[in-house]
Amino acid sequence: MSAFKLLLLPGDGIGPEISAEAEKVLAFLQTAGIAKFEIERGLVGGAAYDVHGVAISEADMKLAQASDAVLLAAVGGPKWDGVPYDVRPEAGLLRLRKDLGLFANLRPAICYPALAEASSLKRELVDNLDIMIVRELTGGVYFGEPKEIIDLGNGQKRGVDTQVYETYEIERIGRVAFELARKRNNKVTSSEKANVMKSGLLWREVITALHKREYADVQLEHMLADALGMQLVRWPKQFDVIVTDNLFGDMLSDVASMLTGSLGMLPSASLGAADSKGQRKAMYEPVHGSAPDIAGKSLANPIAMIGSLGMAMRYSFNLPKAADAIEAAISAVLAQGMRTADIKGSAAKSVSTSEMGDAIVAQLKKLLG
Ligand code: IPM
Ligand code: MG
Repeated sequence: MSAFKLLLLPGDGIGPEISAEAEKVLAFLQTAGIAKFEIERGLVGGAAYDVHGVAISEADMKLAQASDAVLLAAVGGPKWDGVPYDVRPEAGLLRLRKDLGLFANLRPAICYPALAEASSLKRELVDNLDIMIVRELTGGVYFGEPKEIIDLGNGQKRGVDTQVYETYEIERIGRVAFELARKRNNKVTSSEKANVMKSGLLWREVITALHKREYADVQLEHMLADALGMQLVRWPKQFDVIVTDNLFGDMLSDVASMLTGSLGMLPSASLGAADSKGQRKAMYEPVHGSAPDIAGKSLANPIAMIGSLGMAMRYSFNLPKAADAIEAAISAVLAQGMRTADIKGSAAKSVSTSEMGDAIVAQLKKLLG
């Protein structure tokens, strides 16, 4: 049985509750003889700040570097609104992404037929929707320098962020998108604002050249990011793989999440470059945040968290059967009518976080036991 090192970072808000459900799935997979997991636990975000005064400690960064995969739940909350910018909860997440070199963020948006009613769009537009947003995660305006607020001395200040991309950064994220498209419906939509941004112009040039050179068999289209936002809510099924920069990817993946019924449904994988053995550093996390308003009330939906663990099975542990089973188990409990509050719709009642987790594990037992 293969053994994998996993670092669990529950973080803040609903993080600990949904992490507990992912741990149930891990425990089951281990009992069923699928794989062995050595689980370490760490602190990130406000939880780390409260103990260490920083958003992630050096010791936990070391554990992250040494792990086969990091499973992070969520960071942030109003409790830490006043903390210094450098140690705000989000800084822990950004440091993990940057220091582990996790440049490729995969955000699938899948609409389970059982949930089409919960979407804000009409059923026929979203039923069986399956798109993959590939977001560049370690560059662009999130990390570009200078990044500062300057006092101009005349009662005015100037806030500056820098959007910057180099050829290699665009090429490597483009490759991830084209490779994924080849295993899906063979279409990539690349998005930027080449009409107003130099970095967007370079993005378009580099993607076009890469396509011509190595991926001419894949259908490629370019779409300005504002138009893509509009098309996502007009006719989302026209897309297969969308590749875009850090900031546009952040926005567009939130839009895409609502197509699927709830932000509580979307998992994500953040991957680094493959080493000589084909291994990649990786972190898995739900797209949603820490939802402080419902924290501690057993109302949170653990599906995005469990789905993120499913992505770890696929992209880090080479256990595609376990990944398929996790997806099938989620689909089955939804088809049975199980709903947490966020996806309740017109259902008679909703279940708690742990009831949803238990139901998914029970399905997994049927599928893998
Ligand atoms: C996300 C989040 C983060 C981001 C925040 C929490 C820093 O919105 O993962 O999409 O902006 O990348
Ligand atoms: Mg976001």
